[in-house]
Amino acid sequence: MDIFVIQGGKRLSGTVRVSGAKNAVLPLMAASLLADGPVEIAGAPRLRDIATFGKVLGHMGAEVERIDAGGDGRETVRIDPRKVELAEAPYDLVKTMRASVLVLGPLAARHGKARISLPGGCAIGARPIDQHLKGLELLGARTTLAEGYVEVDAAQLKGATIYFDMKTVTGTENLMMAATLAKGTTLLKNAAREPEVCDLARALRAMGADIEGEGTDEIAVRGVPSLRGVRHEVIGDRIEASTLLLVGAITGGDVTVAGADPSAMDAVLTKIEESGARISVEGGEVRVRRDGPIRSVNFETSPYPGFPTDVQAQFMAYLCLGDGFGIVRETIFENRFMHVAELRRMGAKIDVSGSTAAVKGVPSLSGAPLMATDLRASASLVLAGLAAKGTTEVLRIYHLDRGYESLEDKLSSLGAQIARVKE
Ligand code: EPU
Repeated sequence: MDIFVIQGGKRLSGTVRVSGAKNAVLPLMAASLLADGPVEIAGAPRLRDIATFGKVLGHMGAEVERIDAGGDGRETVRIDPRKVELAEAPYDLVKTMRASVLVLGPLAARHGKARISLPGGCAIGARPIDQHLKGLELLGARTTLAEGYVEVDAAQLKGATIYFDMKTVTGTENLMMAATLAKGTTLLKNAAREPEVCDLARALRAMGADIEGEGTDEIAVRGVPSLRGVRHEVIGDRIEASTLLLVGAITGGDVTVAGADPSAMDAVLTKIEESGARISVEGGEVRVRRDGPIRSVNFETSPYPGFPTDVQAQFMAYLCLGDGFGIVRETIFENRFMHVAELRRMGAKIDVSGSTAAVKGVPSLSGAPLMATDLRASASLVLAGLAAKGTTEVLRIYHLDRGYESLEDKLSSLGAQIARVKE
C-alpha cells in the first residue's frame, strides 16, 4: 500500500491546474447507458472511481475505452453502450463505490429493468437511497429488494412530479436521467443545484433531452423517444480547487488555481477571505495569498450553493492553526469527523459534540504518522502535514486516490516536499 511522506513547514507558491470533476464524470458515464451511440467524456481525471465505474459498465456489456489525449494527463473516456445486455451491477463492484447507484435511472428508462446490489453504509454515514427508489416508483417503476439487490421493473416510465424530502445530488441526477426517456413531463422539486447536476443536464440536452431549470430547485424534463451519443467536455473539479487554495492559505503561501469555475466556489472563497487570506479572481483563475494570522471562522455545511461537505475536513485542518475558536457544523453526513482524531494526534485542539466541532487554534501542528479514513479526510491530513513541523506520514492513501489525480505531483510543483512511497 502506498503512503505519503511529507516534510511540512514550506510556504507553497505557483500555479496549478485542477482535473476534471470526478463527481461530474460519474453521472455522465451513467448517462451513456441512455444513448443510442457512443458517449465521449473529455477531460476525465485518471482516478480509481472512474476505472471502477468503467468496470460496472463493462460488466453490463458496454465497451469502455480510456483514450490518452496527450501529455497533459487529460483523458477522454469513451463508452459505447450499444452492446449492453445485462442490466446488472454486482456486489463486488458496488461495494467499492456507492455512485454505482447512478445506473438505476438510466437502466430503468432505457432497458426497462435494472438489478443492482444495494449499496451499504459507508465510512461517512448510512447514506440511504430511498429518494432514488421513491422517484422511480413515482415514474411508474416497480422496485423490490431481495437478497441484497434492488430490482427495478419498468415497462415504460411515465412523467410525474417528484418532491425530494432532502437535497440529494445523485438522487436528482438519477431521476433526471430516468425522466429523459419517460412518456410526458417530470417535475423534480427540491432538486439539488450542484454544478455537477447542471453539467449533466447540459450533456443530456446535447444528447437530445428536453430539460430546463437545472441550477434551480425545480427541474422540468419532457421525455423524448431516444437520445444520441455525444462528446462532452467535463467541468473542472471545484472540490480539488478548494483543497488546493487551502494548501496555499494554510502554508502562508501564494497559490493560483486554474481550471475550475470560481463562481462555483463562492462559499469557500468567502470563508477563506473571512479568515484573513486574500483572494483574487482573474480570467477564471483564483489566487490565494496569506501573510497575516489565520482568523478563526465558523461555518456550516449545506447543499449548494452553501459550504460543501466535501471541503469541511480540509477547512477544519486550516482552522486548527487559527487565532481563536472556529465552530464547524456538519449537516449533510452524520459521521464526517473522522479526521478529527488524526488531527488531534498532531496537536490540534478539537472538541466534538454530535454534528458540531469546536476547533481551538494552536500556534503549530507537529508531524505524525496518520491514518486516512475516507477521501476528503485524507486530503485534510495532507493539508495539516504540509503546514506541520517535521515529518508526517499519511497511510492508506488509496482513499485519496479515489478522488485526487496525482495530488503529490501538483503539490510538488508548488514546492511541497511530498513523496509517495510503498509501505
Ligand atoms: N439521502 C437520503 N436518502 C436518499 C439520498 C440521500 O437520506 O435517497 C441523504 C444522505 O444520506 C445525505 C444527504 O441526503 O445525508 C445528501 O446526500 P446526497 O444524496 O446528496 O449524496 P450523494 O449524492 O450520495 C454526492 C457526492 C458526494 C457528496 C454529496 C453531498 C457524488 C458521486 N457524490 O453524494 O461526494 O459528499 O453528494 O454533496 O456526486 C466525495 O466526493 O467525497 C463525496 C462523498
